[in-house]
Amino acid sequence: MDSIVIRGGAPLSGSIPIAGAKNACLTLMPATLLTDGPLTLTNAPRLSDIGTMTTLLQSLGAEVSALQGGKVLALSSHEISSMRADYDIVRKMRASILVLGPLLARYGHAEVSLPGGCAIGARPVDLHLRGLEALGAELELRDGYVHAKAPGGLKGAEFEFPLVSVGATENVLMAATLARGTTVLRNAAREPEIADLASCLNAMGAQIEGAGTDTITVQGVESLGGATHPVVVDRIELGTYMLAPAITGGEVECLGGRLDLVGAFAERLDAAGIGVETTERGLKVSRRNGRVSAVDVTTEPFPGFPTDLQAQMMALLCTAEGVSTLEETIFENRFMHAPELMRMGARIDVHGGTARVTGVERLKGAPVMATDLRASVSLILAALAAEGETVVRRVYHLDRGYESVEQKLGAVGATIERVAE
Ligand code: EPZ
Repeated sequence: MDSIVIRGGAPLSGSIPIAGAKNACLTLMPATLLTDGPLTLTNAPRLSDIGTMTTLLQSLGAEVSALQGGKVLALSSHEISSMRADYDIVRKMRASILVLGPLLARYGHAEVSLPGGCAIGARPVDLHLRGLEALGAELELRDGYVHAKAPGGLKGAEFEFPLVSVGATENVLMAATLARGTTVLRNAAREPEIADLASCLNAMGAQIEGAGTDTITVQGVESLGGATHPVVVDRIELGTYMLAPAITGGEVECLGGRLDLVGAFAERLDAAGIGVETTERGLKVSRRNGRVSAVDVTTEPFPGFPTDLQAQMMALLCTAEGVSTLEETIFENRFMHAPELMRMGARIDVHGGTARVTGVERLKGAPVMATDLRASVSLILAALAAEGETVVRRVYHLDRGYESVEQKLGAVGATIERVAE
């Protein structure tokens, strides 16, 4: 297992290219199952999660080729040989559940392993299942698998999500594109990845309106064709790298960054004393004065402050002047970075879904352990500002969501290297 070694303290300056969004690509790739036409995704990120989704789709008989070093994915599903998404693959990545809606819509049946929980929470999929049942799917849970059937095909329906779910919105939206008649999804997730998925599906011939708002209307069509679609820029990678100059001082331009993708996050940065300027190449970020100010953060569904940036923001606030409060309202166990940050000298009190952070002047480098994707990158951010050397272990978590992190940070002046253990 690799580790990443960082010597902190230097201000960072220069530019960091932001890749295509992992969480958009993971829902765009299963869309290939909806058509026998060729689906080409450009601006795809090079991440291990994309590799896992590739393996899953290939296990169903789809063809997936990574071109131009993985930046372009060419997918085709004219030869689907299996409708079974195996536990061995699904347990590695929960987004595997996103093959359920497309398989059901196009083939009328599917067997998909329940994903099980993960480090940050139980992560149930009941809303995915209830949404698909609303479209007429018959589902049975047996030996850890969802056995789904739609004899005679899916039928459009009105469905209101009891709570906002990104994945459930994506699964049901994809299924609805081939359902007979009209589907109206209420209390739908509004994340930019949903609008990106809808724009790709419409390019394939779907008829979707309202994606990006809380009400999405779909007119079902007989069949979908192929398309070429650019994956939207990754707002979570963007926010993560915006925090690098914020925590170390200096100035970094995030190439491809867009303010509309990180509105609530940038507002909190502004309140903490971090300047964010739109340039023609992206977003330029710098600290306005010597030390950041404490701010309060509450995670919410988009357009609120993203839960996927909570751990990274906590790293910044560990060195802020004053006491900050972070409320995590989306997942039940998403403060596992706190004990690791405390090993670096941070002062954090966690009670249930609330963490109170009392800022300290400087963090100190230490050996720390990555526990989940976003927690691992929050440790990297803390290490960039900490005095001395930090060794972050189990960086396979990091490789799921951040391509070539040591190259991107090294290019703006960080002393960072990956070592095999
Ligand atoms: C997506 O997960 C993202 N993953 C997550 O990013 C992100 O944190 C999350 O959305 C919230 O923005 C991908 O897109 C691949 P949800 P998802 O369904 O779809 C509960 C990362 O770091 N819920 O919006 O699984 C659930 O337990 C990952 O890149 C149900 O109760 O999230 C949670 O409390 C981590 N029943 C809340 O809803 C369901 O059927 C939001 O979950 C589904 C969800």
